[in-house]
Amino acid sequence: MTHRRIVTIDGPAGAGKTTVSKALARELGCVYVDTGALYRAVAYEIQCREIDWQNSALLEPFLDGLDLDFVMEDKEPVLTSSGRDISAYIRTHEISMLASATSAVSQVRKALLGIQKSIAKDRDAVFEGRDMGTAVFPNAPYKFFLTADVNVRARRRFEESSASGISFEKILEDMVKRDADDTQRTVSPLKQAPDAILIDATKLDVSQVVEKMKSIIKVL
Ligand code: DC
Repeated sequence: MTHRRIVTIDGPAGAGKTTVSKALARELGCVYVDTGALYRAVAYEIQCREIDWQNSALLEPFLDGLDLDFVMEDKEPVLTSSGRDISAYIRTHEISMLASATSAVSQVRKALLGIQKSIAKDRDAVFEGRDMGTAVFPNAPYKFFLTADVNVRARRRFEESSASGISFEKILEDMVKRDADDTQRTVSPLKQAPDAILIDATKLDVSQVVEKMKSIIKVL
């Protein structure tokens, strides 16, 4: 099956995927879906309920009992867990690291596949993540892989999170670790799909990246 109007944007943390994906979705008049939020939600619930996620016998019933959903609010999907908007709790540094670790577990990825596909069923959408173009929507007509130099990515994260008090060096160190975890895991590792278009945003700002994507979508 071909997804007629699905745009996938994959790439490492801090490359600007979220800002770019939101802006592109707005320009295209379609929905923006942040799949990283799903992995963060799993990590958040693991943390809240103190689940021993490395024990697959305990992880399975926990995942079965999860009730994650995207609820449309002002044309933007808001992530809920058991009906509660949890978006305010999933952006901490701790949750970033736990989400990276737990997203390597195949049971977690399997549990989140259905919700990602179901949201694309009757909507045009821009999907942001790590394996959108490779594993979740291999037939998407528009695929991008957005990257940038790791120092530039860490600098952007540092500037975004200056209130947190975490040093640039720590953010850079964790980003290098997260890159390694995300690209080296055996299940759905972060990698460019063979038919995805690579955009290096090291020297580009958001509007330049969005313009580039729009012009590519137009000719595809
Ligand atoms: O995009 P993000 O930083 O919010 O994602 C959080 C973590 O979730 C990231 O370390 C990798 C994982 N993730 C993934 O494995 N697959 C996706 N499609 C999206 C995110």
